[in-house]
Order: sequence, then structure tokens, then C-alpha cells
Amino acid sequence: MERSLSMELVRVTEAAALSSSRWMGRGKKDEADDAATSAMRDVFDTIPMKGTVVIGEGEMDEAPMLYIGETLGNGFGPRVDVAVDPLEGTNIVAQGTWNALAVLAVADHGKLLHAPDMYMDKIAVGPDCVGKVDINKSVTENLEAVAKAKNKDVEDVVAIVLNRERHQGIIDEIRAAGARIKLISDGDVAAAINTAFDHTGVDILLGSGGAPEGVLAAAALKCLGGEIQGKLLPENEEQEARCRDMGIEDTSKVLSLEDMCGGDDAIFAATGVTDGELLKGVQFKGMKATTQTVVMRAKSGTVRFIDGNHSLKKKPNLVIKP
Ligand code: FBP
Repeated sequence: MERSLSMELVRVTEAAALSSSRWMGRGKKDEADDAATSAMRDVFDTIPMKGTVVIGEGEMDEAPMLYIGETLGNGFGPRVDVAVDPLEGTNIVAQGTWNALAVLAVADHGKLLHAPDMYMDKIAVGPDCVGKVDINKSVTENLEAVAKAKNKDVEDVVAIVLNRERHQGIIDEIRAAGARIKLISDGDVAAAINTAFDHTGVDILLGSGGAPEGVLAAAALKCLGGEIQGKLLPENEEQEARCRDMGIEDTSKVLSLEDMCGGDDAIFAATGVTDGELLKGVQFKGMKATTQTVVMRAKSGTVRFIDGNHSLKKKPNLVIKP
């Protein structure tokens, strides 16, 4: 993949964030998602690549754009797999809370797991803890491993967990171990990424979330030198069949970061839609808007934070009026 592709892809997540953030706090998650999806789709047409969506807005018959199998890009440049979540955290934007992102990942053709739309059990950590955690071990053992790797006490470890009933057992065990918890309403891609940045104060992500979000997090952590392990959690025969179609006969198989995002290279970009620990959300003033994006590349290990100042006069397509 061309190095310059990273910078091109920033325009894609910026456009999605600019469009969807106008819906912040309006209680309309679908409208926010549609705005992000259509803005992202438009900009993809200008990007020099031959991309195929492997993680997207759904199957062809259920999503009008950015559906799985759709080709993206201007038809020139590298052949790549594309994973998108134009708005990661639709409820977050609807409520105007923390850590909604417009995200995408690109890898060489055939290197991103075609994760079906089902839950995945996940454990994610930053670079200090690579090789130290194991999704098959207990919560307590993993907290102790993180504490040891980071040279701190278990009481100082912060686990981030989606606040869901299904996680009550995990939450109870974290509390019993004495570690601290950050419960979040949504957004486990941001949560996984945050484990790789000390200043976010988050050490480990535990619990289940969307499998597609797991692949996006894997691409980000590949660039950041962190680790994620996942296990698909099919809930019925149809989902079991989808796992088999993907070549996963045994769903207790642990998917490593490389299983989810293989190869030498990957590019990940995320623009803040609402404010978060890592990225500021979109701010508007008159016909001006600001964005903050992180874009990173696995091959070089470069992580860039990009502040965008946008003149909406010159981008009338991004002037969304809810
Ligand atoms: P959406 O943006 O599709 O609403 O997803 C938000 C999210 O919180 C993801 O970050 C997470 O992986 C998934 O939903 C968790 O699913 P659920 O809300 O069903 O627990």
C-alpha cells in the first residue's frame, strides 16, 4: 500500500464525522448513521485504491451503501480490503455523550477477517501487555498479568467494560479482584484503542461487543503494537453456519490479532465525532468546523494526530441541517 493512502483516508473519516456530528444530542441515531455513511461513501470515490468492503453497513440487500462486497475507490492503486464503521457509537451521538468515532481500516487484499455481524468476546491491551493476557484465563488472572506487566498493583489497573447485563459476572470479578472499572455505554473500538495510550488511564478491555468492531480494533492495535484476542459468540444455528462459511468450525477457537488483521501492513483512521479521551469531537462555529483524527500505519508504526480546520463554505456537501 502506498504511504500516501493514509492521508487520503483521513478525508474519509473527517467527512463522516463532520456530517454525523450535526446530529449530536438529537436522539436520532439512524439519521446520524445515515449522514456518516453517505458522506464516507462519497469521499471514497476519490481515493486512489481498488477496495472491497469486508466489514461494512451490512449485506448488499440490507444496506444501500458501504455494503459487504461493494467496491470502493477510484479504481487505481492497490487492491485492498476495507473495514468501515462510519459511525461507531450511534447511541453516543444520539445522546451527545463520549467517544463516538468515524472509523475505517484498510489492509492488503484478503487480510481482514470477514467477521459476521454477531457478538465477539474480546480482550484487548496495549503494547506493555502483549503476550501476557489470555482470553481463556480468568478475569483475575488477566488483571494480575496486566498489573505485573505494567509494574503496578491490581488495585491500580483500570478495566474498561461495556455496561451490559451480560457483563455482570465480569464486573463482579473485576471488583472482587480489587481493580478499578470504567463502565461505558457504547463504543468498544475506542475502548480497545485507549488501552494503548497511557494518558487515557485504561489498561484492559474485557467483555463482548460486535465482531466487526473487533476487526477494526485489531487493525488499530496492529498499528499501535497492542494485542486483541477474540472468540465469536454465535447465538443460533444461522450464526453458527456463518462461522462455518468463514472456515471457523470450532467457535471456541481464539482469534488472534493476526487472524483478524493479517499481513505486513494496515492503515487505520478514526475521527472524533463526540469528545473522547483520545480525540476531540467535531466543533462548529458558523461556517467553520474543526476535527481531530488519528491515522496510523502498521508497517511504519507511525501514529499521527491531525487537526483539521474546515471551511464549510467550500464543502457545501458537508453542511447538514438536521
Ligand atoms: P453502534 O455504533 O452500531 O450502535 O455500536 C456501538 C457498540 O457499542 C459497539 O461499540 C459495540 O461493539 C456494540 O455496540 C455492542 O453491542 P450491544 O449494544 O448490543 O451490546
